[in-house]
Amino acid sequence: MPLLDIQDLRVSFDTAAGPAQAVRGVDLTLARGEILGVVGESGSGKSALFLAVLGLAGARARVSGQAFFDGADLIDLSDRALSRLRGRRLSMVFQDPASSLNPVRSIGHQLKEAIRLNAGGLSHGERPTPEALLAEVGLSDPQRQLRAYPHELSGGQNQRAMIAMMLAGNPDLLIADEPTTALDVTVQAQILDLLQDISRARGMSVVLISHDLGVVAQICDRIAVMYGGMIVESGPVEQVFDAPAHPYMRGLMAARPNGAGRLQPIGGTVPSPFDSAPGCAFAPRCARRSARCSREVPPAVGGQRWWRCFHPALDAADAKPLEEAARL
Ligand SMILES: Nc1ncnc2c1ncn2[C@@H]1O[C@H](COP(=O)(O)OP(=O)(O)O)[C@@H](O)[C@H]1O
Ligand SMILES: [Mg+2]
Repeated sequence: MPLLDIQDLRVSFDTAAGPAQAVRGVDLTLARGEILGVVGESGSGKSALFLAVLGLAGARARVSGQAFFDGADLIDLSDRALSRLRGRRLSMVFQDPASSLNPVRSIGHQLKEAIRLNAGGLSHGERPTPEALLAEVGLSDPQRQLRAYPHELSGGQNQRAMIAMMLAGNPDLLIADEPTTALDVTVQAQILDLLQDISRARGMSVVLISHDLGVVAQICDRIAVMYGGMIVESGPVEQVFDAPAHPYMRGLMAARPNGAGRLQPIGGTVPSPFDSAPGCAFAPRCARRSARCSREVPPAVGGQRWWRCFHPALDAADAKPLEEAARL
């Protein structure tokens, strides 16, 4: 049984201009210990999807569908039951650690608080110490760092401290939403390595949300590519990177400056969440589209490796994808 099994998840936000449809039917599973990368341009619905799964999408969000976590449907759980799970079995790390940390409390104070809140159910032997958590995230002078305030640490050190807090309850799943976007490239690589090491050592599943393909390529086992509130391609990371089938994923890869990984906009813009035109959301920007693409949403095709496209790049003109895809 997968640790997380999301089925037909939909999220729309009530706004003065009508419902903003951020997530339009997502199916996704995550195995124990697996690292899943979720990529897509800004506005594709990545954050809304996982905020909804955690019950944090806000009062204006309308959420439907299911998200089974270890068998229990999170969408159906009461706020109280969900907030008990958050921090303990499910944790989330956001882009900007400085805004999630309390500026007027020392790191040690905040870490103790996280342990008190989230590790209260663990026995004394299992309950982590602040020092052990800081060591696990590579903060090597715990005595000094426990006394420090967030403004006295670097961005990378703060993100490490934030991750330490998220580990306090020994979660099964960590959702990291653009965790390195605010950091320098070298620090970013270190934080990614750290997440991978922790995942492997603890058997903890990770969802890594990023608009940066390079970030996902660095540590993920599997990738899900989002566009217009849907997943348009998914599969093992090497297979998708070697032979992207969906024209959107091909466009993202082609637009990468020398593999550095930052997504450059493809011609055109991401669809508006208010748009309810039928068909494939990418059709207006797609060189491979046919009339059918503007009429029907392509169904998911494939198994472990799948895509939603009537004209995937698998023909002779794209020789490599053909070889790869033939083996799938
Ligand atoms: N609270 C909200 N109210 C209205 N619209 C929202 C809200 N949150 C997100 N959206 C819209 O939903 C779409 C998806 O947003 P988001 O999930 O933040 O995308 P991503 O994380 O991929 O950049 C965007 O069009 C965004 O403007
Ligand atoms: Mg986001």
